[in-house]
Amino acid sequence: MTRTPLIAGNWKMNGLQPALEEAKAIAQAADSQDGAEVLLCPPATLLTDLARTLSGSRVKTGGQDCHAEESGAHTGDVSAEMLAGAGADYVIVGHSERRADHGEDDLTVKAKAKAARRAGLTPIICVGEKEAERAKGVHLDVIEMQLDGSTPKNLAGDEVVIAYEPVWAIGTGRTAEPQDIAEMHEFIRTRLRHIMGEEAEGVRILYGGSVKPGNAAEILGIDNVDGALVGGASLKAADFGPIIASAQSE
Ligand code: 13P
Repeated sequence: MTRTPLIAGNWKMNGLQPALEEAKAIAQAADSQDGAEVLLCPPATLLTDLARTLSGSRVKTGGQDCHAEESGAHTGDVSAEMLAGAGADYVIVGHSERRADHGEDDLTVKAKAKAARRAGLTPIICVGEKEAERAKGVHLDVIEMQLDGSTPKNLAGDEVVIAYEPVWAIGTGRTAEPQDIAEMHEFIRTRLRHIMGEEAEGVRILYGGSVKPGNAAEILGIDNVDGALVGGASLKAADFGPIIASAQSE
């Protein structure tokens, strides 16, 4: 099964208009190679402008979150349909920062993933254990619960992406050991087979957490790692470009 790697940038709550210039430089880097699909997820305020800036390049755009409903009285929220209307192809759901900052549980995340599909977007469902959970040795159980609770059934393999982001590796400069990444990604593939049968083979499983130019090639070379979800290093073309270049088609 060939899975085209996905290199996704999550800009989190960063980026004003000048960031569009950086995005152009990222697009130049992306367009000069064809090993991976490339995605940028800016703050919602930049999505329309970014999608316009990137039209004609290979770089796609995505949201960082969506509400489960299509429209209604939900002050401050953005629906999946609105993201699609602004030019998005993807949306991140269930990022650990949203699970922590906004108390999102697995049911909420699953509803958001379904909303993404309703709007024609591909959800990137995030899972990840906390440091204490890994220390206790319950990391596989935690991920199993998050995956089972957050992943809608009856999806085709190319209709959903999973991102494994150990919480303790996000923004810390620490990454999981290659053998731990390999173990977890294989575990996730096996769990996905339980959830969606043979479609699981087509699902891209991204690694996230302090992916940098210096460690990207090693991480992307691990079995069942089908791309990366990159935070800090996606903000600058000088960092994100080399990460994109590290991705080879499998
Ligand atoms: P960093 O790459 O900054 O560690 O962030 C990872 C992340 O949370 C991407 O969603």
